[in-house]
Amino acid sequence: MRSAPSPQVVEDGPAVRADIALNVNGRERRLTIDTRMSLLDVLRDRLGLTGAKAGCDRGHCGCCTVLVEGRRVYGCLTLAVACGEARVVTVEGLGGADLHPLQEAFVARDAFQCGFCTPGQLCSAVGMLDEAARGWPGSAAGPATDAPVPVLTPAEIRERMSGNLCRCGAYQNIVAAIMDVAP
Ligand code: FES
Ligand code: FES
Repeated sequence: MRSAPSPQVVEDGPAVRADIALNVNGRERRLTIDTRMSLLDVLRDRLGLTGAKAGCDRGHCGCCTVLVEGRRVYGCLTLAVACGEARVVTVEGLGGADLHPLQEAFVARDAFQCGFCTPGQLCSAVGMLDEAARGWPGSAAGPATDAPVPVLTPAEIRERMSGNLCRCGAYQNIVAAIMDVAP
């Protein structure tokens, strides 16, 4: 019987660098980065914006969620070089000088315990509410209807927020906080 081929060890080549000019929380940030860097690593390690968290670093938990051109993305799965000159908003930039209404609702509803998932939950909820306002259908409500704006029931919010895990299990209060802000 032939043995399985041993895995090839591939030597890393020289790093390839690129210039990017992100607009992060309203401020232009020009950087030269290794093209292999994730957006999350650029935000945390190069720009010192540590709100977005590295929970799993592989697209499972949503702790790294930020907004790129208004759409929620996993920062750990997004190559920073692919963002080019995009507008990026992190939890630090959600509310400006004041808290964002969702942040206020999270506080009022006690929608966290350890808080590790909270920056991702907040950015994801902001993106999700925008998606709903644009009429993007969710799957919990069944087939898409002609209604211009989907009704955000708790079940619908849970489904739309299912990419953001909370290891403390604060889901009930997270949903309640989002319901407070949802139209
Ligand atoms: S750290 Fe990105 S999905 Fe978990
Ligand atoms: S509040 Fe602890 S993981 Fe969500």
